[in-house]
Amino acid sequence: MEETRGRITKDSIRIYEDSDFAGMRTAGKVAAAILDLVGPLVVPGVTTAALDDFITDEVKRRGVISATIGYRGYQHASCISVNHVVCHGIPGSKVIKDGDILNIDVTVIVDGWFGDTSRMYVAGTSSRKAQRLIEVTHDSLMKGIEAVKPGNTFGDIGNAIQTYVEGQRMSVVRDFCGHGLGRVFHSAPNVLHYGRAGTGAVLEEGMFFTIEPMVNLGRPETKVLADDWTAVTRDKSLSAQYEHSIGVTATGAEIFTLSPGGVYKAAFEG
Ligand code: MF3
Ligand code: CO
Ligand code: CO
Repeated sequence: MEETRGRITKDSIRIYEDSDFAGMRTAGKVAAAILDLVGPLVVPGVTTAALDDFITDEVKRRGVISATIGYRGYQHASCISVNHVVCHGIPGSKVIKDGDILNIDVTVIVDGWFGDTSRMYVAGTSSRKAQRLIEVTHDSLMKGIEAVKPGNTFGDIGNAIQTYVEGQRMSVVRDFCGHGLGRVFHSAPNVLHYGRAGTGAVLEEGMFFTIEPMVNLGRPETKVLADDWTAVTRDKSLSAQYEHSIGVTATGAEIFTLSPGGVYKAAFEG
């Protein structure tokens, strides 16, 4: 569909209008509400297919559309990435066991607007190391978001994330990045989770994009399995990810995918 309003920067990034924030707010809230609801279902013994079935039903019940079903041949309403899976884990017969950590990533389309968000979940009791990985990953996303304001650059976002993560002796995945979104799923820019301050495109009010750092306990390298989707750490180390969809405001960032129930980290949090 051709966009008729707004403008495109020299870096091919769309600048949305004030009134477009409302659409993103609604879409983001629906995606985040579904992530809230799935939390209590993440227990040892559940399959990733059962979690995805719940998400598929929730999407239908709310009368919205899954952005991932049919996207480049993908057939599920979520990606579920367990332990050393970095991203794009395909729901299936895998049974979750005590101590597993999972990322669940949901993208919905509401009135044409895309809401894309993911969070970590813990089944039962995880190791301290895994808990620390999850906290560092969450906090790295929030540090990236804190770097968002007009006049800063995308390099400032990546640098904030990378500096924090590496300071915790963990590593940032380079092979996948965040992305522009709005009335499309993936558009310019590529939002890198590493980089040098002051480099890259300049942030402007009205840009919509995701920040979705993947952090590994071991080395940053990944590989994609034969199913052409599942990305895993090459060294089999644990990996975590959090994702928010945000908009650049006059003074900073608006997070469209905040948890309506105030659930951010994982089960061990409270
Ligand atoms: N939600 C993912 C992202 O953050 C994309 C998933 S595409 C799928 O961009 F096809 F794997 F679902
Ligand atoms: Co995304
Ligand atoms: Co996503």
